[in-house]
Amino acid sequence: MAFNYINKQLHCDGVDIQVVAENYGTPAYIYSEQILRRNAEVIKSIFIDKGFKVSYAMKANSNPAILRLFKSYGLGVDIVSAGEFKMAKHAGYLGAEINFAGVGKTSEELDLALAFDIDHFNVESGFELDLLEKRASLADKKAAVLLRLNPDIDPQTHPHISTGLKQNKFGMSPADVRHFLTHTKSYPHIQFDGIHCHIGSQIIQPQPFYDLIDYLQQFTTALRAEGVRIEHLDLGGGFGVNYHDPFEDILETTPFLQSIAERASEKLAGYQLHIQPGRVLVANAGVLLARVLGNKENGGHHFVIIDGATTELIRPALYDAYHAIYSHEEHRPKQMGDVVGPVCESSDALAKHRNMPVFESGDLMVIGSAGAYASSMASTYNMRPLAPEIMVGASGELQLVRKRQTFDELISLYS
Ligand SMILES: Cc1ncc(COP(=O)(O)O)c(C=O)c1O
Repeated sequence: MAFNYINKQLHCDGVDIQVVAENYGTPAYIYSEQILRRNAEVIKSIFIDKGFKVSYAMKANSNPAILRLFKSYGLGVDIVSAGEFKMAKHAGYLGAEINFAGVGKTSEELDLALAFDIDHFNVESGFELDLLEKRASLADKKAAVLLRLNPDIDPQTHPHISTGLKQNKFGMSPADVRHFLTHTKSYPHIQFDGIHCHIGSQIIQPQPFYDLIDYLQQFTTALRAEGVRIEHLDLGGGFGVNYHDPFEDILETTPFLQSIAERASEKLAGYQLHIQPGRVLVANAGVLLARVLGNKENGGHHFVIIDGATTELIRPALYDAYHAIYSHEEHRPKQMGDVVGPVCESSDALAKHRNMPVFESGDLMVIGSAGAYASSMASTYNMRPLAPEIMVGASGELQLVRKRQTFDELISLYS
């Protein structure tokens, strides 16, 4: 089970990645079903089997083949838009397996979710609570709600993926959460079930999660003492992965999962506990496969130009993120340089100042950790069609789980 070199050629679960390139072209995403299953099994045994609810944050990768696979392990799904709602439904999720998060939801989105009797909404503001009350009243339903609390805890991650600091747009202040939970009578069509937090993403130390658990223990104890009913606590997602060694096992990458489950179960006993991981379930299961178009030197700088771009993997441009670079052939000599795409932006770089294998025109390149926030953040900028996604099945068979978008499909939107 792995992405590894066999006879000096990079393989995914026994399939030479060259075979994928020959069959489906480049750029393309490749996913390992075996690694996805391993990740789901670990999350299930640490959390679901101990009574936690787990909702996969499908923004990390919304391919329905992946959604169906996670559903088979008992994971629910965390959605943030009508599009994600439709895709979750398409993949077979029932209303009771869906929760709806996000900082702003439209009336249409709330109506869709109410009509499907989703499990609950995570509400992030007073105006959203008012709107949900109105829509639920019109639909003659009672909407279950967790209020998203912004606990002002530093997740020690990149500022663009920190969400639990008071200057971030997410969640409500502790005072607002307390206010709404003590004024529930103003919302007859809302059932306040508890609190949701998500303090950030790519968190690689356990301490921010421990701080969150301790904070919630104090906060909920005080509220319960005031007679507030709280049954459900959602700690969010954010578990980080090792981008420097993308093929590492989930338990080596994120060894603190068990201790978070134990601390939460001990300090928050008596609540329905819930997590919403995204990245940790999918990042190491996917790579981006690209072909090298050529090399060039500019002002003493070496560039390797590939047919993949920020349109397929925007994380380096967005967060200065590191993604490991591999050549199809093992043991190539090394060279310093940047990996860039053909997109007309200087920020269109997938690796910068990198000591990486020497590449020639026509070579295949593999970019690691592209299972999460890669295909789901893709765009068609420069009229580049969306790249295909290929799953290497558990017994080594290739499955095209998203076809390459055609130029006709792109153009047809305009006619
Ligand atoms: C509310 C919420 N839950 C869960 C996640 C998943 O985070 P991660 O992929 O880091 O686990 C996110 C990511 O942005 C989020 O905003």
